[in-house]
Amino acid sequence: MRTPERAKYGAAAFEGLTGSLPQPFPRTMGPNCLKYLQEVIDSGLTSDMVGRFERAFAEALGVKHCIATPGCTPALAILAAAFDFEPGDEIVVSPITDYGTIQGLVRENYIPVFADTEPGTINLSAETIEPCLTERTRAILVVHMTGLIPDMDAINALAAKRGLIVYEDACQAVFGEYKGRPAGTLAEAAGFSFDSEKTLGSDVGGCVVTDDDDLAERMRFVGQSRGAVSVPGFGREHAVPGYAYRMTQSTAAITLAQLEIVREQVARRDRMARLLTDLIAEIPGVTPLPIPDWVTVYSCWMFGLSIDPDAFACTTAEFAEQLAQAGIPGAGMGEYYLIPAACTFLDENARRKLYPYSIPPASRTYSYSADTCPTARNFLKTFIRWSTFCEKYQPEHCKLAARIVAGITSLDLDLRSGGGT
Ligand SMILES: Cc1ncc(COP(=O)(O)O)c(C=O)c1O
Repeated sequence: MRTPERAKYGAAAFEGLTGSLPQPFPRTMGPNCLKYLQEVIDSGLTSDMVGRFERAFAEALGVKHCIATPGCTPALAILAAAFDFEPGDEIVVSPITDYGTIQGLVRENYIPVFADTEPGTINLSAETIEPCLTERTRAILVVHMTGLIPDMDAINALAAKRGLIVYEDACQAVFGEYKGRPAGTLAEAAGFSFDSEKTLGSDVGGCVVTDDDDLAERMRFVGQSRGAVSVPGFGREHAVPGYAYRMTQSTAAITLAQLEIVREQVARRDRMARLLTDLIAEIPGVTPLPIPDWVTVYSCWMFGLSIDPDAFACTTAEFAEQLAQAGIPGAGMGEYYLIPAACTFLDENARRKLYPYSIPPASRTYSYSADTCPTARNFLKTFIRWSTFCEKYQPEHCKLAARIVAGITSLDLDLRSGGGT
């Protein structure tokens, strides 16, 4: 049997991409990177670099606690562990996202329930969440895909009515804003990613932020201190099977230096994403991702558009391929973001009634596939994103990108009408 090729991450995933638009790698590095790394080394590893980053990030967001981790996947894992729900409890979650959104809650034996997306958007909404709520729902995990933030006031109001926790996966929306308030401060807690390809790109890394003192303490205990207490005269006693998910000093040094330059980069991403959105909106047959008025800063991590399938002779995949060949590096479809379909282990476990899908602790029968969220499934069938949108864009790059898209559309519209043969 042929061994399947393992997925690539970070700079390796961007290797070999060509095109006439800027690419994220090599990343722009904060001027103090080397200085902070040197401090870690000169201190003989006694520096408080992780604490310095945590305090700086918490202050920048205006929250009480930042707990730095090796990535967002572990950040959301320690958060799921700290919530301490019962196995079989349900967490309603966005269907279009990264695997890292659900890894931790699955490992805690909670059950992910995917709410569909709001039509025409890449995110869920209070309206799509409501039908998913049951007596086993404990929390709602909202993802800000591409940096677009759903209507959090409506989601929080729904959750308050039902006594539910809301938390955010803000990986793609660092320093984005909803009605003037930063992503990550819009609910009980939030996870961030500082992976090398993310907007605040370090080598790897992530964190959780919260204003809740007890939750922060539980995360440090169960997520970073291996669930261990110090017992005088004995040593470490492990009360719960905790994690050791701490950010390294050297990552913290790079992340701190990147934090110093990210606000200006986010402002540029916001300006360029809005310009590109306006330009793409003028092209027949394509629709950029809508930016709701409540998104006051669009910290756009990746740019996306939908094509009108009836307008073109080619498929969405062929359209994306033409974009890539015409100079938009990283243009492609994102169907693998549909997590109920992409995480095949979920349906397998549910079908075989493996714990926690056995009854009890599950309260009903579950299944997962592309059909779990038909609106999200259909949206992704005509959706194209370019994963290389980055802070290096200038207005002329937006104009060039729009010209490339317009070139492909007019060629294809022509073919469709029989004029291009
Ligand atoms: C929305 C979302 N959630 C979670 C993750 C996982 O983050 P990390 O790679 O830092 O574990 C990612 C990374 O791509 C993401 O985009």
